[in-house]
Amino acid sequence: MKQVTLIPGDGIGPEITEAVKAIFSAANVPVSWEEENAGQTTFDTIGELIPETLIASLLKNRVALKGPITTPVGKGFKSINVQLRQKFDLYSNVRPAKTTKGIETRFDNVNSVLFRENTEGLYSGLEMFDERLQISDSVARLTRVGCQKIIRAAFEYANKHNCKKVTAVHKANILKSAGALFLGVFNEIAKEYPHIQADDKIIDNMCMQLVAKPEQFDVIVTTNLFGDILSDLCAGLVGGLGVVAGANIGDEMAIFEAVHGSAPDIAGKGIANPTALLRSAIMMLHHIDLKDEANRIETALEATLANKEECTGDLGGKASTMEFAQNIIAKL
Ligand code: NAI
Ligand code: MG
Repeated sequence: MKQVTLIPGDGIGPEITEAVKAIFSAANVPVSWEEENAGQTTFDTIGELIPETLIASLLKNRVALKGPITTPVGKGFKSINVQLRQKFDLYSNVRPAKTTKGIETRFDNVNSVLFRENTEGLYSGLEMFDERLQISDSVARLTRVGCQKIIRAAFEYANKHNCKKVTAVHKANILKSAGALFLGVFNEIAKEYPHIQADDKIIDNMCMQLVAKPEQFDVIVTTNLFGDILSDLCAGLVGGLGVVAGANIGDEMAIFEAVHGSAPDIAGKGIANPTALLRSAIMMLHHIDLKDEANRIETALEATLANKEECTGDLGGKASTMEFAQNIIAKL
């Protein structure tokens, strides 16, 4: 039995984690969950946003499945998600976006994996506000080592999975300092992988290219904010936020979570799509070498997604979160 930390999170988090737990249990996956939470919920009960018990559990298990955690807009605490990524140096945020048979979209051939730098850039937390002058500074700090780690992770992935091309996305024309560092490191590392095509695009053009001809992209690597935005864009190309998975990976630990947030507009209604979290959980099973279990669950999931009637509302079906989970379980 492999012990994994489970963070249910906020909003739809508890609903979709219940669905994933039910599917894992029905598939007899040899994983035991150690449940710990974070965010406003734990602050209200024990006065800690990131409880010591969660940190201890993560340090012990080194692998976690995480639901979304709400972050206040404007004043209030700093994103728990960003804090966890920085605290444990989970520098790669890996977000695949692939067309799924049965999910109606404008494209039938999207297959990309986005590598988002996960600890630096505009999310560094270097923010100043001068009350008197009403001037705000948000510093997008990049380090050479940080760029090297994410870009190497992207090329290593491309190498391992026989991907033809890695595209770096930047704004080096305007961001002379950060852009030049990121692109410079990209060109250096690309030389070590001569069999992989290295391409780069300026972020604004990239957005246009992605919505017009997404099939031209394979592995994409970019800085934190661009990656955050592009991954939601990519979600829109393949069926929406309900279906795209993600992983925060460092050298010592990995936390798997969907791309989406806590979806307050549908929370508590039992209608959220658990596919994104389930796909993140499948990535987790590959990470801990439970490949047979991963493939078995994936096959049942794909068969369910192929039939719109069996899916949740975001995919045009009528199933609740748990009915959808039961439809998957029936096919295991
Ligand atoms: P969101 O991703 O929660 O929702 C955007 C839209 O997608 C909503 O209409 C929502 O109903 C829909 N959606 C998202 N997940 C879905 C699912 N599984 N099934 C069906 N529909 C789904 O983004 P929003 O509303 O901007 O953010 C809400 C909160 O989540 C904020 O506090 C934000 O900071 C937080 N957040 C947390 C993340 C994390 O924990 N990693 C990531 C993104 C946002
Ligand atoms: Mg996001």
